[in-house]
Amino acid sequence: MSTIEISKDIFWVGVIDWDVRDFHGYQTRRGTTYNAYLIRDEKKVLVDTVKYTFSNDLIKNINVICNPEEIDYIVINHIEMDHASALPNIIKHAKNAKVIVSQRGRDGLIKHYGSNYDIITVKTGDKLNIGKRTLMFIEAPMLHWPDSMFTYILDDGILMPNDAFGQHYASSQRFDDEVDQSILMEEASKYYANIIMPFSTLVEKKIREISDMGIKIRMIAPSHGIIWRSNPSKIIEAYKNWSTGVSKNKVIIVYDSMWGSTSMMARAIANGIISQGIEVKFFKLRESDETEIMMEILDAKAIIVGSPTLNNSMFPSVASFLTYACGLKPMGKLWAFFGSYGWGKGAVKQMKEIVEKAGFHVYDRSIEIQYVPTSKELEECFNFGREIASKIMGK
Ligand SMILES: Cc1cc2nc3c(=O)[nH]c(=O)nc-3n(C[C@H](O)[C@H](O)[C@H](O)COP(=O)(O)O)c2cc1C
Repeated sequence: MSTIEISKDIFWVGVIDWDVRDFHGYQTRRGTTYNAYLIRDEKKVLVDTVKYTFSNDLIKNINVICNPEEIDYIVINHIEMDHASALPNIIKHAKNAKVIVSQRGRDGLIKHYGSNYDIITVKTGDKLNIGKRTLMFIEAPMLHWPDSMFTYILDDGILMPNDAFGQHYASSQRFDDEVDQSILMEEASKYYANIIMPFSTLVEKKIREISDMGIKIRMIAPSHGIIWRSNPSKIIEAYKNWSTGVSKNKVIIVYDSMWGSTSMMARAIANGIISQGIEVKFFKLRESDETEIMMEILDAKAIIVGSPTLNNSMFPSVASFLTYACGLKPMGKLWAFFGSYGWGKGAVKQMKEIVEKAGFHVYDRSIEIQYVPTSKELEECFNFGREIASKIMGK
């Protein structure tokens, strides 16, 4: 795939990474793209680069539009390696380019890629006239790194927000109106849940700040996945909902089990919840993808976690899940715990402590059963599920 003109004289020159399935632990089952954009005006501007392994593809794409030596500026909206690690290779071809980065990005850029650049630092509201167009920079610290920044093309109404509004979605199509909407929103919500969610309060503020700046957004061109050309408000509205914790009557059951007792409990709890007409998503951890679990948690009301006791502790896959999930700070969820044990217990207490310490709302009752649950004990699990269903329905 070569270049695409996304708007007059503004080109997508990125690459599609069809093969990647593990992106720093994020399971990218549909691959991803590294979107870079080239603006052809009196000045030529490259906005973001790609992962260094694809440097030659980027250079080839730039060459379709102009000689890389004609590039005047390279904007690095975000210094992370998937977007900026091609910089040392690109600068060898774009010898005359100045590198534009946020003030907070400068040191990190040098730490990653050396100091052999003519660097310009910018802050929110700074403008750069490039001929017919003017670019404006908007710092977006912690969305999702301290250096993160958005570039806005005033005259075209195009926002290039780097990782915000992105999706890990490799597709031969580039635009929102060309792809299956359910897949697009699934990947966008997965991206939000696994990358952006810890910074939800900042997302809310940033959306308000941008709207207060009165800038018109005609198109959102993120650094991963599909470009929001036809309906940018769809992803802005979704971000508003996700960042404010809008949820539905849905419960996530996440557990692991060595010999099946905790599985039996999990199924009985699920049946109790379902009996109240509430949606359940059910994940046995060692058979599941944590990235997808977090996506399902995003709009759920409760998370019920089960673990057998192993050597006085929770099961390792459960510990891994709790570390990951608590770090992502899902807002406003009710957490509850269950598990089977043999003699001294340990798992439920440990799980509760971790989640309480993270500051989340823990249901005051847990359920622990010795060895294999009897039918009476499974009934208790069923009732536990019903109880949680009633709780989230506010009964
Ligand atoms: C290797 C191993 C270590 C265990 N360690 C403990 C323990 O420290 N404390 C305890 O109460 N039970 C312990 N158990 C017992 C299990 O918690 C018990 O068999 C439980 O019913 C297993 O649930 P599951 O079928 O969901 O895996 C251990 C079991 C195994 C296999």
